[in-house]
Amino acid sequence: MDKFIEEAAEHFKTLLKEQLERQERMERAAEKTDFNSIPKLTIGLIEGDGIGPVIMSVAEKVLSKLLKDDIASGRVELRKIQGLTIENRLALNQAVPHSVLEEIKKCHVLLKGPTTTPKGGNIESANVCLRRELDLYANVRPVSIPEKGIDWCFFRENTEGEYTLGSRGIELPHKLSMDFKVTTDGGTRRIARAAFDYARANGKNSVAIVTKANIMKKTDGMFTSIAHEVGEKYPEIRVEDYYIDIMCANLLNEDIRSKLQVFLLPNLYGDIITDEAAQIQGGVGTAGSANIGDRYAMFEAIHGSAPRKVQRGEGAYANPESILKAAEMLLRHVGKPCKADRLSKALRECKSEGRVTVTGHPNGATAAEFGEYLLEKL
Ligand code: IPM
Ligand code: MG
Repeated sequence: MDKFIEEAAEHFKTLLKEQLERQERMERAAEKTDFNSIPKLTIGLIEGDGIGPVIMSVAEKVLSKLLKDDIASGRVELRKIQGLTIENRLALNQAVPHSVLEEIKKCHVLLKGPTTTPKGGNIESANVCLRRELDLYANVRPVSIPEKGIDWCFFRENTEGEYTLGSRGIELPHKLSMDFKVTTDGGTRRIARAAFDYARANGKNSVAIVTKANIMKKTDGMFTSIAHEVGEKYPEIRVEDYYIDIMCANLLNEDIRSKLQVFLLPNLYGDIITDEAAQIQGGVGTAGSANIGDRYAMFEAIHGSAPRKVQRGEGAYANPESILKAAEMLLRHVGKPCKADRLSKALRECKSEGRVTVTGHPNGATAAEFGEYLLEKL
C-alpha cells in the first residue's frame, strides 16, 4: 500500500508539472492562421474507421465538386491522409501514429471521419490526441431547427477538463480508481472569448455558462468565474449561469429552449449535451462539429464510428449528413462562405424534397445514393 501511495504521488507530481507547463505555454500568444494569405490551401482528408470511409467518400466527392476550380488552378489541394485506422493504432500502440501526425501537421485544415475509441486500456482516443497535439481548443457545434425557433451554438472547451488526463488516472486493482480533471486560467479564457466573440459577431444577446460548480468546486468554479470575467468585456451580452443537469432538461422544455442561444461549457458536459442537442435536431447523424485552434482546425461528424452498424453489415446505410455539415463549416472557416452556402442549400433541398432519404438503416438509401442525389443539386 505504501509503495502504491508513493508511486501515485510521484505520478501526480509529474502530471501537475506538465499541466503547469501547458498553462504557461498558453499564456504566450499563438499565431493565428490567416487563410487569405495562404497561396495553396491544403485540406487533409482522414477516412477514420467503421462507417468513416463510407461517409468520407461522399464528403470527398462533394468537396471535389465545390472546389473544382480552386483545385484545377492549384490554389487548393485535397490530400488523403492514410493510416489513422484502429488496426494501425492498436498495432503501434499509438493513439495517432507518429508518421500520421507528421502528415496531418503539413495540412492547414482537416476533415476527419470518426475513429474508434477503445474502451478502457491505455490507448487514448485519436480525437483527444489530435485535439491536444494541434491545440484545437474550441469545439463548436451548431444545432438549428428553424421551425421550432431553435438556433443554438455550443462552445465546448476541447483540450482540458476530464479529457486532458483521461488516460492517465491512478488505479489500485480491486480497490480504487481515480481520474483527474484539469481547468486552467488560459484554457478557460480562450474558449470563453471564442463564445463571446461568436455571440457578438452573430447578433446574439445571451451566453449561457453551463457547469456543475456546486459539486466540482475547484475546476468548474474557476471555469464559471473566468467566463464571467471575460463576459464583462461584452456588456451588450447577458450572461447566465446554469447547472448541466437542469440545462439537459431545459433543452427539452419548449418554453425555455428557444430563448437559449450560445452555450459555453467545460469539455465533458459539452460532449454529452451536444449529443442531446443533435438528437433534438433529428439525430447525431445530423450535426457537424468544428475543432478550432489558432493554427489548425479539424472538422468532423459529431457521432462515432458505429462499429455495431458495420458488424450488422449496414455500414453502407450510414447517414453522411453530419460529415457534410462539418464540410460546410470547413468551407466557412477557410473563407469560402459562398461554397458553404451552396452546400447547405443543396442539403436542405435534398431533405425537403426527400426523393432519396437516408435513415441510417437498410430501409433507407445508402450514403452513396444520397451522395449522388446531393451532387445533382449542387
Ligand atoms: C465527440 C466524441 C469524442 C469525445 C470521442 C470519440 C472521444 O464523442 O467528439 O463528441 O468524447 O469528445
Ligand atoms: Mg461526443
